[in-house]
Amino acid sequence: MSDLDLQLGDAAPIVDPMLGSVVAGRYEVRELLGKGGMGCVYRAKQAGLDREIALKVLHAHTASKPGMKRRFKREARAASMLQHPHSVVVHDFGEWEGQLFIAMEMLNGVPLSDVLLSGPLPSERIVDILVQLLDALEIAHNQGLLHRDLKPENVLILDDPRAGVEPDKEHRDYVKVVDFGLACVMEPETDMSLTDDGNVAGTPAYMSPEQAKASELDGRSDLYSVGIMMYEMLCGERPFAGASPLAVLVKHLYIEPGRPSHRAPETPVHSGLEEVCLRVLSKLPQDRYQTAAEMRLALGQAMAGGNRFIQKPGIKKMSRAERAETLGISNVATKAATATDAAELRVLSVRACQTDFSSSPNAVMRAFGLDVEEEERLEDIGLLAPRFHAIVVDLRPDPAEAMIGVEAGLETWELDGRPVIVLGPDDEFATMQQALSIGVADYVPVSKVSKLPKTLRRAVRRYRRKR
Ligand SMILES: Nc1ncnc2c1ncn2[C@@H]1O[C@H](COP(=O)(O)OP(=O)(O)OP(=O)(O)O)[C@@H](O)[C@H]1O
Ligand SMILES: [Mg+2]
Repeated sequence: MSDLDLQLGDAAPIVDPMLGSVVAGRYEVRELLGKGGMGCVYRAKQAGLDREIALKVLHAHTASKPGMKRRFKREARAASMLQHPHSVVVHDFGEWEGQLFIAMEMLNGVPLSDVLLSGPLPSERIVDILVQLLDALEIAHNQGLLHRDLKPENVLILDDPRAGVEPDKEHRDYVKVVDFGLACVMEPETDMSLTDDGNVAGTPAYMSPEQAKASELDGRSDLYSVGIMMYEMLCGERPFAGASPLAVLVKHLYIEPGRPSHRAPETPVHSGLEEVCLRVLSKLPQDRYQTAAEMRLALGQAMAGGNRFIQKPGIKKMSRAERAETLGISNVATKAATATDAAELRVLSVRACQTDFSSSPNAVMRAFGLDVEEEERLEDIGLLAPRFHAIVVDLRPDPAEAMIGVEAGLETWELDGRPVIVLGPDDEFATMQQALSIGVADYVPVSKVSKLPKTLRRAVRRYRRKR
């Protein structure tokens, strides 16, 4: 069965009606290349010219939203005027049977997100990719065009067409940036972040703090997103993860990213590149590089400064006794600190008030095989903590009151770095912000209680790496 068909039990497969259509009388749709938040991308043949193009067709409902068509046309026109070897060529755009489409140069390559699946990249490769990306951004920004949705899915990596043609050019990655300006089409400029129901529009993982706040954006916001991608290339992880899009957003706003070298103790991270990355991830745009050209220069200087790699000794490689000594704790506690298998995870679950809640976090954790011990008094956490890998505090029914206890506790409990995760109401932005800024590892909204086990495992893994 082709991946275009959706099989529903024994029923006949549903075939995408776009396949075989001729869009705007000239683009014959041949194959689905991929789907994203905004729409679908197809391989199509342009009649008459006998060339292949990539046709992005936006979700049907987008064209019906007020102001959408106007914004789409404005952005698509700006993108079509962008001519740079590292930005995708936009051939055409328009509207067909109530759907907005954009016809682009067909690229044969893989998104950077696929490349990142195999982990961190070597320094030279990171710089090579970033320099090409920054070249494209520099020209776009100079023309007043922001990307607004830079993420690894929108950076395609092609085989370098110059390899073999220019004798001194060895094989390397050739970067093409796609989807310039299109994010702006999806949401009104004034509402890029929180929607009415408290959800987040777009991919929060790569959003700048000013984007999260729906403030006015300039090129420095794109540079922040480049910084998140750079972080991921350096250590294989994004700086901010969370149980909900809102939690990620709050972290962009209020939490400092840890050093990439601390995130990946087993990967050597180039110290100069780490500094460049942390600078461009500054919360305030004025503290970042001000232009793409400035960041590119900093990358060159960092590489010229020599390879001073930072590497933390991998705790996994140490013996139990060495680990205990490094962590300054007993052998038993060391075992607790390094376990991440569900079966080995011991969680202290604290609920300030004995009320019968419909969604019980303890039931969810047990269903996932975690070893949960229940406790009612926040005051006892300090004493009990050493026996557990992580602590979960249910803030309900009075989150504000419970947070006072958690805040005081974080200063007095002997946690030795163990993660504390809180569970609270969905729409309490202020409580979530407070929790994350005082050092709570994550805030899990009640509606996302099923994510608690995964969040716990991630937090314990992180704790282990930090040691
Ligand atoms: N010009 C192109 N040529 C070939 N493949 C492309 C082209 N543009 C996009 N793609 C691929 O099509 C797939 C879907 O892209 P799409 O932009 O719809 O999704 P996305 O980037 O994941 O999300 P978003 O909708 O937020 O941009 C991606 O895997 C992308 O790599
Ligand atoms: Mg895209």
